[in-house]
Amino acid sequence: MLGIDLAGRRALITGSSSGLGRAMAEAFAEAGAQVAVHYRSPDDPADQAAAQAVAAAITQAGGKAQTFAADISQAAEVESLFKAVDSRFGGIDILVNNAGMDGVRALGWESQTGAWETVIRVDLLGAYYCASQALKRMNRQKRGVILNITSVHEFIPWEGYSAYTSAKAGLSMLTKTLAQETAETGIRVLAIAPGAIQTPINQSVWQDPKMLADLDRKIAMGRLGKPREIATVAAFLASDLASYMTGTTVVVDGGMLLYPAFRHGG
Ligand code: BGC
Repeated sequence: MLGIDLAGRRALITGSSSGLGRAMAEAFAEAGAQVAVHYRSPDDPADQAAAQAVAAAITQAGGKAQTFAADISQAAEVESLFKAVDSRFGGIDILVNNAGMDGVRALGWESQTGAWETVIRVDLLGAYYCASQALKRMNRQKRGVILNITSVHEFIPWEGYSAYTSAKAGLSMLTKTLAQETAETGIRVLAIAPGAIQTPINQSVWQDPKMLADLDRKIAMGRLGKPREIATVAAFLASDLASYMTGTTVVVDGGMLLYPAFRHGG
């Protein structure tokens, strides 16, 4: 049987207390990986409880998971995070840079500098800090996979979200450059660009029938994706089944990039 096998792999998934991260944590554990469920801060009891619930669900299902907290926008916290993973897991084989935020909607001339910077710090710098720490370790073992979760908005401009689109386009180029740097070392670096997936990040949209109908019209398949539909692709890409793939973005968007508005007119 051609199954996805991550047995013996140690995977750190940032932002895995909810949404896509949670689904990936569950899928990776199901495929046999030991999962570091990362969340932002113990100062946020709801987030901490959510992360613990993810780890508990995985453990109850017979998998292996532990929780880790760090503000990934701070390089020093990322360094400590990786040291904690070293001491509790003995190293890392897979990093999924999933933690991210859309940010506050604001046109370019109205946005607050601080808010713009926060999105770049979390979505781009945070991913870079984690990738850099992971690569130091993966280089020594000459094996590893980094998956960066970008978005269809690495390609599609999005009014009011210039920090987000810039961060995601930047993360795409970070993916390619790191892949080029590591291609001969046994390390693979890939990106997944999800479309509109039903998670807490876009809850205000899918809970509003009018906004949901508008979003559905932007997707060729006519529906939002489910977190599991990203998680299974991520598990495949992280596995040896994808051993000849590096430096590219895999789009998982139900056809959002097919510009369904062009079924008519033009
Ligand atoms: C965003 C979502 C949005 C989707 C489609 C994602 O990258 O995080 O909020 O619904 O893109 O626009």
